Amino acid sequence: MSRLAGKMPKLATAPGARPSSFPSMRPSRTTSAPLQFRRLESTQRFSPPPSSTSSSTTTKKPSSGPSFKGQLTQSITKRIQRERDDLKRLSHMRPQNSLGRMMGMTFVLFTVGAISYWCGLKYPKEADPASTLPLAATKPPKHNLNPAHLEAAWSDFVAIVGKENVSTADDVISQHATSEWSTHRAADDQKPFCVVYPATTEEVSELMKVCHYRRIPVVGYSGGTSLEGHYTPTRSGICIDFSRMNKVLSLHKDDLDVVVQPGVGWEDLNEMLAEQNLFFPPDPGPGAQIGGMIGTGCSGTNAYRYGTMREWVLSLTVVMADGTVIKTRQRPRKSSAGYDLTRLFIGSEGTLGLVTEATLKVTVKPASESVAVASFGSIREAANCVAKVVGEGVPVAAVEILDDDQMRFINQAGATSRSWKEAPTIFFKFTGTPSGVKEQVAIVQKITKGSGGKSFDFAKDEQERVELWSARKEALWSTMAVKKPGDRVWTGDVAVPMSRLPDIIDQTKQDLGRSGLKSSIVGHVGDGNFHIILLYSDAERKLAEECVHRMVKRAVEMEGTVTGEHGVGLVKRDYLPHELGESTVDAMRKIKTAFDPLCLLNCDKVVRVEKPARGEVSEW
Ligand code: LAC
Ligand code: ZN
Repeated sequence: MSRLAGKMPKLATAPGARPSSFPSMRPSRTTSAPLQFRRLESTQRFSPPPSSTSSSTTTKKPSSGPSFKGQLTQSITKRIQRERDDLKRLSHMRPQNSLGRMMGMTFVLFTVGAISYWCGLKYPKEADPASTLPLAATKPPKHNLNPAHLEAAWSDFVAIVGKENVSTADDVISQHATSEWSTHRAADDQKPFCVVYPATTEEVSELMKVCHYRRIPVVGYSGGTSLEGHYTPTRSGICIDFSRMNKVLSLHKDDLDVVVQPGVGWEDLNEMLAEQNLFFPPDPGPGAQIGGMIGTGCSGTNAYRYGTMREWVLSLTVVMADGTVIKTRQRPRKSSAGYDLTRLFIGSEGTLGLVTEATLKVTVKPASESVAVASFGSIREAANCVAKVVGEGVPVAAVEILDDDQMRFINQAGATSRSWKEAPTIFFKFTGTPSGVKEQVAIVQKITKGSGGKSFDFAKDEQERVELWSARKEALWSTMAVKKPGDRVWTGDVAVPMSRLPDIIDQTKQDLGRSGLKSSIVGHVGDGNFHIILLYSDAERKLAEECVHRMVKRAVEMEGTVTGEHGVGLVKRDYLPHELGESTVDAMRKIKTAFDPLCLLNCDKVVRVEKPARGEVSEW
């Protein structure tokens, strides 16, 4: 329309112009001379030659009519007059024709558009036929982080949760970008531009609708105890902090389940449950909260007896990337109703949806509980002892290994009032009836002695039990307490089939010794899962990375996993293909893009969605 309109004045003012609906006359548009010349030629064809005597081609005799010159002049005059009439008539018609043409074009465009739209509906673009999404086929996510756009988003967030629940304070931003115990820090341009504190599922849904519409990335945050860079943002955006969603919504004592919000801490939950003689077994690091525990698929010391977080979640309410709210199932203890979305979200590290409510199983608190601690001459002896205890089917509740370095750090940090033997040590937890516990302690004491155990102490009372076990639970904090100012900590985590645990611990211990780094080993040895805790300066970062790399490689070669319980985060992404195979990771990536095609949710965690830069991934 506008193109046509633009041409109209040009046509109307061009000298000697003719409407473009007369294309055959185009050559005559710039001057009238050729037109006259052509007419002249045509006139000549109709006029007899001056010397001809024949009258066969004309009705007028040359002698009785005007002379040839006169004839020519007459003809020219007539033609010019006709031409002028034509031009006059055509110039009068021109606006009508242009308008008509415009309307015609509009009609054609509209019709073509309507037909195309109809065809598009009837024959939609074929869906991507691939079952997996290889990294090579990914397209980099496009987010909108324009400052004016973020400012407008800030107003949207304030309208949803109130001004007091949106923070841009520097210390708040930093706290939501990394921690002292995390392996990764965000660069300044990667940090969130604000932290938002919703109070309900509906608010989280509204926030996600804004972020979805505005293409703003989001990272969820609860306890902040994760270790592998899980909540360290890579693409700025916002952080949704669940600390206001910290309520226990309902306890169904008869059904042995409890409904909680993501900001509930596992320790607080257990304090509340204890009043009802109930207990929630997953026990990750102190301070962890349900949202992050689900995200990481965590476990802890009780996993040996009770299983991991995956076994203790019945149902989840999840806000999806576009703000849709789903509930994965109701509250029965078992169900065969369709895909197990609950399990899919557990361990998804906030990349598939934001958990806003969880129904958890609980169990009856054991009637009696005790703890014993045994020390050994070598870590291999300690690990072999565990294999015997497990092999004889003693139903211990937990069995943990700490190496000599770790015991030294506990002493140095003064984490407990007692002074520990600085030797490889095993912590056993026993639960059950009082007589059952007594029996288990006796059996394990005997096995320990027969496996080269140097000492065996068990808690005489509740206070001692708590203190002994706290030495184990505070291992990471004790190690951090002895680091030099400015140094950082790296907690590596792998798991192998039980029988390979003595080998991998032994080899890793030797490797750490060669590295010269201050380090320790802690393991959930009953599950074949162990950690190295490394202290390193900025200059030693590469050294630390290489130790972790070799440990991970060793685990994979022993048919193990690159992470037993800490999750993938930013650290283990490039190890997943070695453990699982490219195609399996490609299938995970397909799930990620199905749930979150814009990569708004904790983008870059678990699976890459964009090819890494050259040299970014260490050689295997
Ligand atoms: C632990 C943590 C680091 O086992 O997973 O203490
Ligand atoms: Zn652990």
